Amino acid sequence: MSTKRSSDPVDHDTIAHVLIEALPYIQAFHGSTIVVKYGGNAMVDASLKAAFARDIVLMKLVGMNPIVVHGGGPQIGDLLDRLQIPTKFIDGMRVTDTATMDVVEMVLGGLVNKDIVSLLNAAGGRAVGVTGKDGNLIRATRMTIKRESPELEVPEIIDIGHVGEVDTVNGDVIDTLVNNHFIPVIAPIGVGDDGESYNINADFVAGAIASHLRAEKLMLLTNTPGILDSDGDTLTGLDRREANGLIRNGAIDGGMLPKVECALSAVEAGVHSVHIIDGRVQHAVLLEVLTDGGVGTLIQNASNDA
Ligand SMILES: Nc1ncnc2c1ncn2[C@@H]1O[C@H](COP(=O)(O)OP(=O)(O)OP(=O)(O)O)[C@@H](O)[C@H]1O
Ligand SMILES: [Mg+2]
Repeated sequence: MSTKRSSDPVDHDTIAHVLIEALPYIQAFHGSTIVVKYGGNAMVDASLKAAFARDIVLMKLVGMNPIVVHGGGPQIGDLLDRLQIPTKFIDGMRVTDTATMDVVEMVLGGLVNKDIVSLLNAAGGRAVGVTGKDGNLIRATRMTIKRESPELEVPEIIDIGHVGEVDTVNGDVIDTLVNNHFIPVIAPIGVGDDGESYNINADFVAGAIASHLRAEKLMLLTNTPGILDSDGDTLTGLDRREANGLIRNGAIDGGMLPKVECALSAVEAGVHSVHIIDGRVQHAVLLEVLTDGGVGTLIQNASNDA
C-alpha cells in the first residue's frame, strides 16, 4: 500500500471500521482456546504459510489461546518417493510398516513441525513443537480396517501397520505451554502402550484435543472452500442427519470423512463451534475469528446457543 493511499481519509475510515469490527470478537474470545488444524494440502504455498503464522500470532497477542495441530500427507509422500519406498493405501489410509513409520515420524515430528514452529517464531510468536509422544500427550491404539462382503461370514480384519486412533489425551504438556504463553504446535503421532509410534489422522488429533480442552472453536483448514454438496456448492452448516445423507450418497468421501466425523464428535463433546475453512485463502483464520463475514462450513451442536 503506498503512503498516498494510506493517508486518504476514505481509507482511514475503512481501516478503522475493520479494526473496530474485530473488537467484539476479541472481547468474546479473550482467554478462549482455539484449536486450528493446518492440513498438509493447505500448507504448500510459502506466502500462505507466512500469512497463517501471522494470524496465529495475532490471535495469541490479543489474548486468545491458539493451539496448532498439523497434517503432512503430501510432505510424507514426497520423502517416501525420494527414498523410493513404495506406498499402498487401503480405504484412504496409508499402510504404514516400520520403515514407513520412520519416515512419517521424521517428516511430521521433524520437518513439518519445525517448519511451522519457525514460521510462528519468525512472525513474533513463541511456539514450541511437540508430538503426541511428548508428555504422553496422545495415547494411541492400533487401527484396523474391517472389510465386509457377502462372500465372507465374518468381516475381514486388515492390519494397516502403525496407523493409530486416539485413545486418551493428557493435556498437561499443553497446559504447561499455554500457561507460560507459548503456542503449542502438535504433530499427529501417538504412542502405544508398548511405546510404539502411531501415525494418526491429524483431524482426529485436533478433534480429540479440542474436545479434551472443551475448546471454544475447532478450525479445520483444508484445500476446499468448506464441505461441498453433490452440486459442488459449499454448505454453510451441517448436522449429523444431513452429514449421514451426504456420506451415504457419496458427496462426502476421502479426506473429508474424518473431518466431518471429528467435527460432529467435537461439538457433541462440548466444543462450541467447528469451522471447516479454505486454507488457500490468505488470512482465512483471521477472517473467520475476527470479522462478521465467516467463511466455509460451520458445525454447531443443535443444543448449543448460537
Ligand atoms: N464433500 C466434500 N467437500 C469437500 N471436500 C471433499 C468432499 N468429499 C471429499 N473431499 C476431499 O477431501 C479433501 C480434503 O481432505 P485431505 O485429507 O485431502 O486434506 P487435509 O486433511 O486438508 O490435509 P492432510 O490430510 O494432509 O492433513 C479435499 O481436497 C477433497 O478432495
Ligand atoms: Mg486429511
